[in-house]
Amino acid sequence: MRILGKYPNIRLRRNRKSDWTRRLVSENNLTANDLILPIFITTGKNKIEPIKSMPGINRYSVDKITKIVNKANKLNIPLVAIFPQTPNNKKNSMGTEALNEDNLVCQAIRKIKKNNPNIGIMADVALDPYTDHGHDGILKNKEIINDETIKILSQQALLQAEMGCDVIAPSDMMDGRVGIIRKALDKNNFKNVQILSYAAKYASNFYGPFRNAIGSMNKLKGDKKSYQMDYKNASEALREVALDVKEGADFVMVKPALPYLDIIKSIKENFRLPVFAYQVSGEYSMIIRAIKTGVLNKDAIIESLLSIKRAGASAIVTYFAMDIAKKINK
Ligand code: PBG
Repeated sequence: MRILGKYPNIRLRRNRKSDWTRRLVSENNLTANDLILPIFITTGKNKIEPIKSMPGINRYSVDKITKIVNKANKLNIPLVAIFPQTPNNKKNSMGTEALNEDNLVCQAIRKIKKNNPNIGIMADVALDPYTDHGHDGILKNKEIINDETIKILSQQALLQAEMGCDVIAPSDMMDGRVGIIRKALDKNNFKNVQILSYAAKYASNFYGPFRNAIGSMNKLKGDKKSYQMDYKNASEALREVALDVKEGADFVMVKPALPYLDIIKSIKENFRLPVFAYQVSGEYSMIIRAIKTGVLNKDAIIESLLSIKRAGASAIVTYFAMDIAKKINK
């Protein structure tokens, strides 16, 4: 870049001198349209249960979700993402509960579609909420087997679409799953159901509180490094995205967000498609704890989200969605 002018003719501080001029020259903004609200679902009735590892976040029984979805809708949040806490007695090695049309996700999708037809619903496709070993796929001889897993995932996706899910989000990182899901959806007349592929999902240490929230923490045997990406890698994320786009992804997700801004930016620059980012549970927990103990002030939340937008994200899955939408809608 050519540098134009020099001090004292040029004073960059002039454009920063007051609020109105800062607003005029701002390059990025955060609105409620950029936020995706994750909602945790649990069994039972009349339950709103605080999640210890994520202060301020609750699990809801299905009969209680209408209220929170109503609120999200009023605040102009376009999309909610639902995550189930499956009871242990419904978990097994194959994760068969994923295909039960009365599982928590299916119940929640039906409920939201009925009461809030104007908000988008997203659901993960992966087996980890349903397996007794906590992995996203089927485990055989200590290996997560790809090709058998994606067949089940395409059935899981189809079931969710039948329930009324708008955005199918494969978060499993198996090879070839976007293609097989797109095919299954198209064959069954769900041509307008979108696929949000978690294309660049890293084997990250920042997922701990989430695993705690859905109860897969104590279950997980080993780690997910044989399918989720190695955090040493960046170019590989572009290959992941290229394949998923070819297979039919409508948009792609980078996860986690804040430690991976470089990945968001290079995907945006290389592919010019909508890139979403997931500010994961570990990021949430770090920030909220720092605020609660007085180490950071509350505006650190907006700064973290704005930086993700600045990197190129079109939308952000964040546990702060409700609080921040309230604040920025004012
Ligand atoms: C699993 C899934 C995970 C998250 C969303 N979907 C965890 C994992 O891969 O183990 C993490 C989200 C978060 O930490 O907020 N398919």
